[in-house]
Amino acid sequence: MTRRTALRAAACLFLVAVSWSPSWAVDSPHDTLSNINCDNCHIPHHALGDIITAPSDSLISTLCISCHTWGGWPGMTKPFADAMKADPGTAGISHGWDVDTASTEYQTHGPTTPALADHIRNGRVTCTTCHDPHDNTNPHFLRVPNNNDALCLDCHSDRNVNDVRTYVPGKVYSHPVGVVLPSGPTDTTFHNPPLDTDGNPQPSDGNVTNDFVLGGGDEVYCTTCHGVHFTDSDPGTVDGP
Ligand code: HEC
Ligand code: HEC
Ligand code: HEC
Ligand code: HEC
Ligand code: HEC
Repeated sequence: MTRRTALRAAACLFLVAVSWSPSWAVDSPHDTLSNINCDNCHIPHHALGDIITAPSDSLISTLCISCHTWGGWPGMTKPFADAMKADPGTAGISHGWDVDTASTEYQTHGPTTPALADHIRNGRVTCTTCHDPHDNTNPHFLRVPNNNDALCLDCHSDRNVNDVRTYVPGKVYSHPVGVVLPSGPTDTTFHNPPLDTDGNPQPSDGNVTNDFVLGGGDEVYCTTCHGVHFTDSDPGTVDGP
């Protein structure tokens, strides 16, 4: 197939999908309850790229942010902007997007889970690598559940370590994850629950967004310490969009 024929075929498939197939239904809030229809995100003809989405630069994030910006869609409360991308230690309040999958600085690599790997765009991690804008089965439209940070640890498996106490030259080091925080008053070295900004066990300061979230067996994971979006590195403030 030439590129033109392929595009035309894709457009026809899209129209068929729009007209006939219930399997392309879209979950709330990306549905008609928010007055969103297929054609708010897709255009059937003369669109760029292989997924016939509406933005002209073929960047998925441009489509997402066209609504996810202040005033981008009526009542939007979850806005994004390029300046939010994190530069650790410097600025930013969100996990990066439109970033190369392989970062030597942060020891990342492309995801191995097919549901994620199939949605790398131009070699880069974008909004729809982690999110499926059609399917809200996993909360926040995540492509895979993030139980015990399974999503994070796919691309960041080099930091899935709990043996940092033994130094091996050339090995990547990181804060341990998957280790249980000792519980109860017998262990005063590792506070469990951790202390809040007022010096008492969390959630005593009333700010739930600075609480360390432990796994089901009290394990420490990446998201014990790291937020994903709308999160600054100041435990004294309330995070959120
Ligand atoms: C909120 C935006 C949004 C809405 C609303 C939406 N889509 Fe999509 N759709 C996307 C994006 C973005 C992709 C590409 C995701 C990717 O592959 O990274 C996509 C992909 C698709 C695909 C290709 C699926 C695949 O797995 O390759 C089809 C077909 C499709 N959409 C049909 C529809 C139909 C039909 C509707 C309306 C019932 C609809 N979409 C509504 C954003 C949307
Ligand atoms: C046509 C407008 C529109 C587009 C395009 C759009 N969204 Fe949304 N999205 C919304 C609205 C409206 C909400 C609800 C916002 C709110 O609660 O303030 C929402 C909510 C969400 C939520 C939160 C859902 C939840 O249950 O917590 C996620 C995640 C999300 N969008 C991701 C995306 C991604 C990823 C894209 C790009 C593929 C995208 N959106 C494109 C309108 C849009
Ligand atoms: C590396 C994976 C990843 C990327 C890339 C990513 N997200 Fe998310 N996003 C998540 C996770 C994980 C959550 C759930 C966070 C939580 O539970 O606190 C989330 C939550 C959200 C929410 C709900 C936030 C809330 O507080 O209700 C929205 C909206 C959203 N993402 C939109 C986007 C948009 C738009 C982009 C691209 C500009 C994007 N995401 C890029 C992983 C990602
Ligand atoms: C699809 C792959 C992928 C997934 C899934 C993913 N990351 Fe990342 N992450 C990256 C890449 C690539 C970078 C490097 C970004 C750059 O070069 O700026 C990164 C960077 C980071 C950074 C440094 C800040 C930044 O954005 O540059 C942190 C912290 C981080 N990730 C935490 C997480 C957490 C927590 C999760 C799970 C919610 C997660 N990541 C899921 C690929 C991923
Ligand atoms: C105990 C808390 C904690 C845990 C657990 C943790 N981090 Fe971090 N992480 C931090 C802090 C604090 C920084 C900032 C360090 C600095 O600014 O020098 C950081 C920085 C980072 C950075 C960017 C700077 C750098 O050092 O490369 C990345 C990427 C990152 N973390 C990813 C992860 C991932 C992925 C996981 C899970 C495998 C994880 N972190 C687990 C606290 C934690």
